[in-house]
Amino acid sequence: MKNFIILLLLFNFLTVFHFSSAADSVYDSFVKCFSENKIPDSQISKIVYTPNSPSFTNVLESYIRNRRFNVSTTPKPSIIVTPTAEIHVSAAVLCAKKFGVQLKIRSGGHDYEGISYVSDSTFIVLDMFNFRSINVDLEEETAWVQSGALLGELYYRIWEKSRVHGFPAGICPTVGVGGHISGAGYGNLLRKYGLTVDHVIDAKIVDSNGVVLDRKSMGEDLFWAIRGGGGGSFGVILAYKIKLVPVPPSVTIFRLENFFDRNATESVFQYQQIVDKMDDDLFIRVLLQPITRNRQRTVRATFIGLFLGDSSRLLKITDSIFPKLGLQKTDCHEMPWINSVLFWANYDNTTSPSVLLSRTPDSVNFLKRKSDYVKSPISISNLQSIFRKMIQIGKVGMVFNSYGGRMSEISESETPFPHRAGNLFKIQYSVNWNEEGEEADKNYINQIRELYSFMAPFVSKNPREAYLNYRDLDIGTTDNGKKSYSQGKVYGVKYFKGNFDRLVKIKSAVDPDNVFRNEQSIPVMPFRGRKTRK
Ligand SMILES: Cc1cc2nc3c(=O)[nH]c(=O)nc-3n(C[C@H](O)[C@H](O)[C@H](O)COP(=O)(O)OP(=O)(O)OC[C@H]3O[C@@H](n4cnc5c(N)ncnc54)[C@H](O)[C@@H]3O)c2cc1C
Ligand SMILES: *[C@@H]1O[C@H](CO)[C@@H](O)[C@H](O)[C@H]1NC(C)=O
Ligand SMILES: *[C@@H]1O[C@H](CO)[C@@H](O)[C@H](O)[C@H]1NC(C)=O
Ligand SMILES: *[C@@H]1O[C@H](CO)[C@@H](O)[C@H](O)[C@H]1NC(C)=O
Repeated sequence: MKNFIILLLLFNFLTVFHFSSAADSVYDSFVKCFSENKIPDSQISKIVYTPNSPSFTNVLESYIRNRRFNVSTTPKPSIIVTPTAEIHVSAAVLCAKKFGVQLKIRSGGHDYEGISYVSDSTFIVLDMFNFRSINVDLEEETAWVQSGALLGELYYRIWEKSRVHGFPAGICPTVGVGGHISGAGYGNLLRKYGLTVDHVIDAKIVDSNGVVLDRKSMGEDLFWAIRGGGGGSFGVILAYKIKLVPVPPSVTIFRLENFFDRNATESVFQYQQIVDKMDDDLFIRVLLQPITRNRQRTVRATFIGLFLGDSSRLLKITDSIFPKLGLQKTDCHEMPWINSVLFWANYDNTTSPSVLLSRTPDSVNFLKRKSDYVKSPISISNLQSIFRKMIQIGKVGMVFNSYGGRMSEISESETPFPHRAGNLFKIQYSVNWNEEGEEADKNYINQIRELYSFMAPFVSKNPREAYLNYRDLDIGTTDNGKKSYSQGKVYGVKYFKGNFDRLVKIKSAVDPDNVFRNEQSIPVMPFRGRKTRK
């Protein structure tokens, strides 16, 4: 027994020693390599954190947005690098390449599978939060936005200068620009203006040779790839230049609830008939959530709308094509665009826009997301069986986001994001929980997988399409970028359809050594990959 305890202690000591020495040696190698890359020691000590630094944990946890990856068993990086200058980014890329250590790039940390700060290989995190300047040029109606800026900060900086400009990007203000735009990006201006990447006009990146490139020097292929092909495959995004869009001085919002045990099925059914054809100024999201109401299990359908116009024009539209919504004048609230941003982010109407400058969300849950695309309306009786299934499963919700409008006018190959014409709406499956532990994780992840599999007959097939920014490792991985092409193709065609091949060609040309790799990165071309090197 005594021997056993000693052995156990020795084992513990050895494993701890082993881990800290591995991290120490990564640290030492990087410090040396940073010096060789002309970074002064005084700067290195400010931008490199080891697990022994007192602030390591705080820096790591600051941009964790899924509690599933904030537990003791979550693999931790050997070091975190927090660059404050371009040369720091270049050095991090060159040193990671030199040592074959995986580089995980993080901007806002909202990746649903945490792949910007978790890995099962030895890895370092390049954390871009210091790169967060935003320069709005109203004359040009453009802005340069660094990758570590958050969407809320961008909306605020636009609003500061103009009440009639906006930007078509995500609804959650704490999402980071770096991951959001490199993964396409959309929000409630989708039907009017398309995706976020449809409004990107220039970019600055650091490539796999540590070289800083802009649109002109990177060329149109790479510039195409970084507008939706996913961050972490092609380089480190330093900044994007975006084109602002006009918004009216006043917009209209509404939020209406209906229930399965009332007439929600009919309103959701009618939604599907008109959703892709309604006026481009109108965007309607439907949240479906199993709940208990009047001591009965039911499904609540919440219809949330944004209309780029006044309520009388909106009511004319909904009365004529969507009477089952039951929208009344009293449900409509007119307000400046920036207040609609706050409303969609669930702030009440007394909240000041300055809340958008806050970089921390109000709460962080355990969560899992999945996605699907719907191309033809689901019948009333199928909707009923879906609602019954949701009640039976327990906690999983769905969000429908209306397509059509501008999305149908842009070709599938214009950007890597292929889900354009022919879609009625996108589904996001969603489950949040607060219980800690593997049992809970397993339970809720099984629940979401069960609904996803139940939905198969009603959604896109061959491939079953998915939205990259709703990262879902269930649909395939490449063993962390190590095995490549055939595994990569499995998720690649779901995220990118026919654009996958072009992404692979570009990847093979710009990063033949696969420096930028992760669980779902773009693989290098088999066999002939290296020959395409320029
Ligand atoms: C609460 C919440 C709400 C959301 N709402 C929306 C929405 O309305 N619309 C929408 O389209 N999406 C939405 N998303 C998804 C979101 O767009 C993606 O998760 C996006 O990738 C997050 O970007 P990030 O910088 O915050 O994430 P990160 O986790 O930092 O990065 C995501 C991916 O991009 C890579 N990456 C990050 N920065 C860089 C960089 N500078 N250079 C190269 N690669 C980089 C990472 O390595 C990782 O692979 C939401 C997510 C959450 C958690
Ligand atoms: C992560 O876990 C730590 C320690 O339990 C906790 O203090 C912190 O608030 C958590 N952060 C997030 C984002 O979950
Ligand atoms: C839905 O049903 C309720 C009663 O259950 C009724 O008052 C309401 O008018 C109906 N709404 C529509 C849009 O049909
Ligand atoms: C703000 O919200 C409250 C409560 O929902 C509502 O009573 C009030 O009319 C709203 N004010 C405006 C200006 O919309």
